[in-house]
Amino acid sequence: MAKLKFIKNQTETLEQASDRLIEFAQKSPWDLQFEFIDGQYFLASNLKGERPIGIEIDRELLRHETYFKSHSLAKEVLAKSIGIRSGKRPRILDLTAGLLGDSLLFLAMGCEVWAVERHPVVGFLIESALKNAKHPSIQRFHFVEQQASDILKQMPQIDVIFFDPMFEDINHKAGAKKEMRIFRELVGKDYDSAEILKNCLKIQIERVVVKRPRLSQVLIEKPNIDFKGKSTRYDVYFPKIMAQSSQIP
Ligand SMILES: C[S@@+](CC[C@H](N)C(=O)[O-])C[C@H]1O[C@@H](n2cnc3c(N)ncnc32)[C@H](O)[C@@H]1O
Repeated sequence: MAKLKFIKNQTETLEQASDRLIEFAQKSPWDLQFEFIDGQYFLASNLKGERPIGIEIDRELLRHETYFKSHSLAKEVLAKSIGIRSGKRPRILDLTAGLLGDSLLFLAMGCEVWAVERHPVVGFLIESALKNAKHPSIQRFHFVEQQASDILKQMPQIDVIFFDPMFEDINHKAGAKKEMRIFRELVGKDYDSAEILKNCLKIQIERVVVKRPRLSQVLIEKPNIDFKGKSTRYDVYFPKIMAQSSQIP
């Protein structure tokens, strides 16, 4: 049985872990060690020289906000894909929270964000980071550890669904962040993505945005529009328009 360990001040400590995290650790081929650093837990890597994985919410929000002070949102492909306009900040449901990279960008852009994550290790890192966050924008963030399919049955009031599943063509090319290796190994591929997207498109909301590697195939069918960045493409679907033209798969 793999070990689940929590280390504080270089000493093993008892910590409240969810049943799902304990169950995952019991079945996992890897030992899971969380280290308490600067007020929150990080997942330690088993490789020498690899940084522990965690989410530094305050630091990231500050970094994004500083960037947006001198860069127009109107030119950002991510902002265009979710429909940000002057005076319009859509409410976002991020179905694939992960390490909150996109959610924190949405917050820094001024949106209200609901985020969902199903993996218990990632969920634990998010909860721990949230307890440590002091930035005022975090008041516009709501998190729940669950399956995307569950929140789709009881939707919060939102305008846009954002979906960034782990893609099939996992890319180990040089330049990819080293600490992402352990994250990818842990989370694995998201084989149910096409099914989840089909369900999203049945919901009468403004937009569904799917984040994909720039050159990859579409997840299920051609989007209404797409926005391309250097390495990423955002496939945007308009479910209301699709329903009118009976395009929903
Ligand atoms: C590629 S990562 C998302 C990265 C995130 N957008 C970021 O910027 O940090 C995909 C994450 O979504 C989660 N996920 C995938 N499918 C999900 C589903 N159906 N329900 C809940 N979480 C899901 C995975 O566990 C993984 O943590």
